[in-house]
Amino acid sequence: MSNSSDMQTLMNRYGIVGRNEALREALATAVLVAPTDLSVLIQGESGVGKEVIPRIIHDHSKRRSKTYIAINCGAIPEGTIDSELFGHEKGAFTSAISEHEGFFGSADGGTLFLDEVGELPLSTQARLLRVLETGEYMRVGSSTPRKTNVRIVAATNVDIPNAIKHGRFREDLYYRLSTININIPPLRKRQGDAVLLFKKFALDTAGRYNIPEPVRLTPEAETVVNSYKWPGNIRQLRNVTEQLSILSESRNITPEVLAKLGITPNSDTDTSIATIAGNNNSSTQHDYEQEIKILAHAVFELRSEVQELKEKLQHSSNWPKDSANTTMPVPISSQKSAATTHHTYHSLPNLDIATAEEIVDDDTLNIGDMEKRNILLALQRNHYKRKLAAEELGISERTLYRKIKAYGIDE
Ligand SMILES: Nc1ncnc2c1ncn2[C@@H]1O[C@H](COP(=O)(O)OP(=O)(O)OP(=O)(O)O)[C@@H](O)[C@H]1O
Ligand SMILES: [Mg+2]
Repeated sequence: MSNSSDMQTLMNRYGIVGRNEALREALATAVLVAPTDLSVLIQGESGVGKEVIPRIIHDHSKRRSKTYIAINCGAIPEGTIDSELFGHEKGAFTSAISEHEGFFGSADGGTLFLDEVGELPLSTQARLLRVLETGEYMRVGSSTPRKTNVRIVAATNVDIPNAIKHGRFREDLYYRLSTININIPPLRKRQGDAVLLFKKFALDTAGRYNIPEPVRLTPEAETVVNSYKWPGNIRQLRNVTEQLSILSESRNITPEVLAKLGITPNSDTDTSIATIAGNNNSSTQHDYEQEIKILAHAVFELRSEVQELKEKLQHSSNWPKDSANTTMPVPISSQKSAATTHHTYHSLPNLDIATAEEIVDDDTLNIGDMEKRNILLALQRNHYKRKLAAEELGISERTLYRKIKAYGIDE
């Protein structure tokens, strides 16, 4: 990257905000290595912004006019991952009624982004190592090697050296993937960037939902946002900003408003949340206040959904036109269809709990809605860290990925 205006142009093009030097170095490295065919491994905590890097690499490489495929390795079931990646022959297994090319075949000449690479099963890791070393792979059910010319960029938020120690990741593959390492720093190490990002997300949300005035932080609230640890990083900050943009009556966000969402100076909420989730060690004190907050979230969720269903029914049938339990406003009801995936997990401070029983008794809520809501709440409670959310829900991370996809949840 020859100068800072080139860097600014790059950041504008990809919607990246931040002054942090380590972030800018990471972006510069991506541009620098783009023209080579070297494998790149992007590492960083959940929500730090890893996914834009492979796109930058592809767009700045000689492969830019060829295929770019991003694959979430954690989202593909173990039983089908080899066939998804490497293809299969007709009859390779019971349901293989026709041949399938696989991503390594279809991305020939282009770039393959293997996201969440730490989730790959060991047998798939062996196949991947082979294609990286020889440029050859075999379809499932075939012993004929095929050639492919694919540039691999991989990303992970898991500590790979630790996974190697526990026999979950091949050391040789790690070295092969990480010819170039790009580390994206956590938000807590990017002094000042959190406030810049808050401003960006407040503007974006106002634009998206036609909110006349974006929310803004008071100077005291800026200090809080800067010193909070942001365990879910930029994804968490984006979600918090969106919630405030839509739910806060005042456009001025004070430390008190932030505190209601658990955003307080020098703290993260990991400990208390983990305690409620039951996956923390027992020495941590049980946090009833936090638990009540979480239950209140759930009740609000139920109320919103019931209200929504009633509105739908009123439009379509002879449903009585009363609004007995609508004391709680649902601020975005008119934009709900566009906002569902982002905003079904609002918290409101003053809940009228008296109606909770009615809601829980309401059998119009279907299991799918409830499951989706539980997933959203678990993600929110765990700062959008899918691993922790999956643990809390008692399902595997892979199942959680699939459900996130199936319900169209946009974290
Ligand atoms: N510097 C930034 N400026 C603007 N938006 C950003 C920045 N970094 C990340 N984001 C946004 O934050 C969100 C989370 O980023 P991303 O999905 O890349 O996280 P990730 O590192 O892949 O996390 P995970 O490991 O959990 O998948 C995305 O919506 C992304 O656009
Ligand atoms: Mg990601």
